[in-house]
Amino acid sequence: MESLQKNSLKDIYKKISSVVPEIEWKVHAPLIEKINKLKKEKNAVILAHNYQTPEIYHGVADISADSLALAVEASKTDADIIVLCGVHFMAETAKLMNPKKKVLLPDMDAGCSLASSITGKDVRMLKEKYPGVPVVSYVNTSAEVKAETDVCCTSANAVKVVESLGVDKVIFLPDHYLANYVQKNTKVKIISWQGTCIVHEKFTGKEIENIRKENPGIKIIAHPECPPDVISASDFAGSTSNMVKYVKEKQPKKVLLVTECTMSDNVQVENPSVQFIKPCNLCPYMNKITLKKIYDCLKNESNEIKIGHNIAAMARKSVQRMTAIGR
Ligand code: 13P
Ligand code: SF4
Repeated sequence: MESLQKNSLKDIYKKISSVVPEIEWKVHAPLIEKINKLKKEKNAVILAHNYQTPEIYHGVADISADSLALAVEASKTDADIIVLCGVHFMAETAKLMNPKKKVLLPDMDAGCSLASSITGKDVRMLKEKYPGVPVVSYVNTSAEVKAETDVCCTSANAVKVVESLGVDKVIFLPDHYLANYVQKNTKVKIISWQGTCIVHEKFTGKEIENIRKENPGIKIIAHPECPPDVISASDFAGSTSNMVKYVKEKQPKKVLLVTECTMSDNVQVENPSVQFIKPCNLCPYMNKITLKKIYDCLKNESNEIKIGHNIAAMARKSVQRMTAIGR
């Protein structure tokens, strides 16, 4: 998790100049200055996911993290406004964790292919089909799905959450590949759903093997949303923050982060002696967030996340059970 230091614009650019061209910086700099000023005036906090672009991640975010840490940070903040730079389910989770705060999402169309792969009705249907089997939902789901869920998880704690239930069978949704990863790491029987991440499903085991052949000694780190052959061709699998931690601690000479490629730029500037190989798969939803949209939504206090009272009360329990289990 990265905390924004009281960096001047000059310092910020010095940090990100290897990944942000000067011509783009000229557009970003005035917005970064205005957003950071507005944040102070309105007692707002900016929570950003690790996939946000470098000018957001290093320029305006107070905290940059994976989805588990964003949920925890949202629950702890004493700011009046939370601007969630990420996707809709992350902003909804922040609202569930801290319902009295105003939570803003700079672009309401920042969705997620996993979250849209399943509805509350689908979960009710699964519960009828498998009576008494607890439901573990990936946090990449709507509040409506979380409301039908016993406990949420993220890629940072999925196995731990499943095992915490002390049962021999769970319904695990919606990510088929994450379910597969969990199944490989537990004896609990996993009943999965057919959701996939449109970014991670694009990677193939063959592609990873070729990159390894072309780059002897490279360390390959994959997100658990990747297909199984990609994970088995990798050296390590973990949540986005666990990937960041791996690079920071191990300082490999060369690394491939098998995930949304914007994150490699963010991690690269923190680890200048590591060489990053970057096949580029972008998340179209994460990329909807821009400095201009952040500024506009904070200035106008628009795009506020609202969740119906009953759904929120039920969904909150499944998220709180997850954060109580921890990482
Ligand atoms: P993390 O929880 O690992 O940050 O992942 C969230 C996500 O959406 C990955 O695609
Ligand atoms: Fe959803 Fe995949 Fe984008 Fe993550 S990278 S927000 S899982 S579509």
